[in-house]
Amino acid sequence: MFVLIFIFITTLYAQIFVGQSLCSTLTSTNCGTDALNGQGWCYWDSTIATPACLTLPCYLIDEVAACRTGGSLITGGANTDCDSLETFSLQYDNVCCDKNLGKLNYAFVRFTMNFDGYVDSTNDITPIPMASLDISLSVKDMFRLYTINPWLAAQETVESVFQDKLIAILDKYLEPNTRDVLISEPKSYPFYIERTVYQALQLLRDWTVMHKSTIALRNAILPKIWSVALVALTRMTKFQPNYYQSNHYIINFAIIPYFKNSLKILGQAHTLTIDWNAFAYNSNGFVMVYSYPPEQFGIIKAYTDVICIRPFQGGSVLYVDTQDNYDDTFSQIKFIYYWADSIIIDQTKLKLFQISDDTQTITDTGSSFTCNQSSRTCTTNTNYSPNPAPTDGKGQNYFIAHVDYNLLQSDKKRAQCILAYKTWTTSCA
Ligand SMILES: *[C@@H]1O[C@H](CO)[C@@H](O)[C@H](O)[C@H]1NC(C)=O
Repeated sequence: MFVLIFIFITTLYAQIFVGQSLCSTLTSTNCGTDALNGQGWCYWDSTIATPACLTLPCYLIDEVAACRTGGSLITGGANTDCDSLETFSLQYDNVCCDKNLGKLNYAFVRFTMNFDGYVDSTNDITPIPMASLDISLSVKDMFRLYTINPWLAAQETVESVFQDKLIAILDKYLEPNTRDVLISEPKSYPFYIERTVYQALQLLRDWTVMHKSTIALRNAILPKIWSVALVALTRMTKFQPNYYQSNHYIINFAIIPYFKNSLKILGQAHTLTIDWNAFAYNSNGFVMVYSYPPEQFGIIKAYTDVICIRPFQGGSVLYVDTQDNYDDTFSQIKFIYYWADSIIIDQTKLKLFQISDDTQTITDTGSSFTCNQSSRTCTTNTNYSPNPAPTDGKGQNYFIAHVDYNLLQSDKKRAQCILAYKTWTTSCA
């Protein structure tokens, strides 16, 4: 009897539970292989000097058991840096977040991937190579375009191959013959173009974090993503000219005619209203906006998403490859920032920043704000007009942040650090 109890207790102690293995104890052969050996929380990193089995950054973890605190979990694992999300949504794959964050971070949402079909052909009985697919032939061919699967690029391990595969898809959406159909075909639903944008953003972000790629990868892919975003916006102005808005966590879209005078952009725990009531225009046009949380590019602690305003004057928006046909006269803009969480905003430290399309150049516009802590709003003291007035027709990008928002690299967690192209060891430098 005592022997039996002894055996029972010993077995209980020797039991390894899912989420418990330390990645650092695993080898290249068992790192991430099965439920007990790091599947869903470890990955083999061959990019470091001494390749090793590492714990995934919190947002990339699939196995929630690895980041739950307490219970049977041993110290030193994923639960050192991560917590379990309190609530999951089946819309995204995230189950863990950075320690003490307590919630999903919109900049790091992972949409569920599928690996059906092909990255360079349609998913048909007889697949059509992407290069020869002509979507102007029929609506059926347009729908075939949507079966080409960008998620498959995630499986590539060589940077140039990953880049080429993803860019080939983006270029397909941008080639004049395809893009003209997507913009003007009555059955072209904007969602499919939006989906390509958020898939590409997620793929770029996660490939960068996993493989510590260079900024050259972002510089090659990001302009193409923004171009597809503009195709989506242009489609929206024809699809639903009086208003269209959609939110996909890592990217949001909205279009509205000038005559509606203002637009409220939703972000995580905040909104940013653009009000052009004081802007005098001599014919109607459209305010088109895409917005994104800048943390996906390593810019932390901004109060608002980056809002990219593409104003177009005229009744029918024209997409041009040079993307320099936007309204330079768009000005006299009032910005109203509203925050939903309980933070105190110091209005003397609040800045409106301008940011370049490649996210690398950030300048203070010099605007000042007046805040009301009880209504949780800050409003620009005078209407903002770009100075000097733009002459390149490229549109305007802004975000609001504390003056010192990005000062300390050491405030960045691992994924944020890699996305800012800084050096991560155990902290960011
Ligand atoms: C601040 O907001 C509160 C609540 O909306 C409002 O009652 C109050 O008048 C505002 N204060 C100022 C100075 O505008």
